[in-house]
Amino acid sequence: MSRICVTTATTVGGRTYRDRMTRPHVVVYNEVSIDGRVVGFDTDPSRYYRLGFRWRSGAILMGSTTALAFGPPEPVAEELRALPPPDRLPVVPGFESLVTEPRPLLVVSDSQGIVRCWQHALAQPWYRSIVVLVSRSTPADYRRYLDRRGIEHLEAGEHRVDLARALERLATTHGVSAVRTDGGGALNGALLTAGLVDEIALLLDPVISSDPDGQRLVTLPHPTAPGGIRLRLTDVERLDDGALLLRYATNPRAGPPTG
Ligand SMILES: NC(=O)c1ccc[n+]([C@@H]2O[C@H](COP(=O)([O-])OP(=O)(O)OC[C@H]3O[C@@H](n4cnc5c(N)ncnc54)[C@H](OP(=O)(O)O)[C@@H]3O)[C@@H](O)[C@H]2O)c1
Repeated sequence: MSRICVTTATTVGGRTYRDRMTRPHVVVYNEVSIDGRVVGFDTDPSRYYRLGFRWRSGAILMGSTTALAFGPPEPVAEELRALPPPDRLPVVPGFESLVTEPRPLLVVSDSQGIVRCWQHALAQPWYRSIVVLVSRSTPADYRRYLDRRGIEHLEAGEHRVDLARALERLATTHGVSAVRTDGGGALNGALLTAGLVDEIALLLDPVISSDPDGQRLVTLPHPTAPGGIRLRLTDVERLDDGALLLRYATNPRAGPPTG
């Protein structure tokens, strides 16, 4: 998949849309209940990840809350020690064909330095290496901890990670041309409002979430235009248990409105 580089502004319905920088193609991929939540229902992780591998990606972009699931945090005393990379876990039987070289980068946005279980993440067999996105305000001790784990950190933005700049840097410095997300509503909302999403792929389960406060597919950081963010349905696939795999395209030619 080729990188996107649009050099002219676009006007749609009287609004001018900011041009995109060179950045990878971004697919937001989630398993959702029919009430639009990403938690609060049983899932089959092997199916979710098997389908996710359809999108060959140079990088998997993960939210920091999602990355906490790699394992328990390291004890503080352990964090202060430099450690060699752990042995990689074997690929789960049945998934061998999904691991093709080069494996994707795991990219985790973590400006606040909350992910402290990197030994567990490094042991995963799915990724070739890990890049943590930080901002100028990310604590120095967290960066030193990443250094002790041999994990690259890429700074973009002042307080939160500037996702547009980070994606551009991943394209130019790491050759990443396609990204698939592995995150929840906060990451999806931040990407969408920044005009950085090309496609949304939903594994829609025939279930209603048990969690009335559960994270939704998209949590926008602030209101957008009253008409909402309109998508274009590009594909529907019915799976055996009544789940649907739905694919939507966003506006493929422009970033967010500037005026
Ligand atoms: N069903 C599914 O398909 C699926 C898939 C993945 C995860 N999940 C679930 O989703 C839940 C987590 O979702 P979540 O949305 O709470 O967390 P998340 O997506 O894991 O993390 C939120 C991420 O968004 C970033 N972010 C938020 N606002 C931003 C902004 N304005 N600018 C830049 N970055 C911003 C945060 O960056 P900072 O760290 O820098 O603040 C953080 O990395 C978990 O329960 C997980 O199990 C479900």
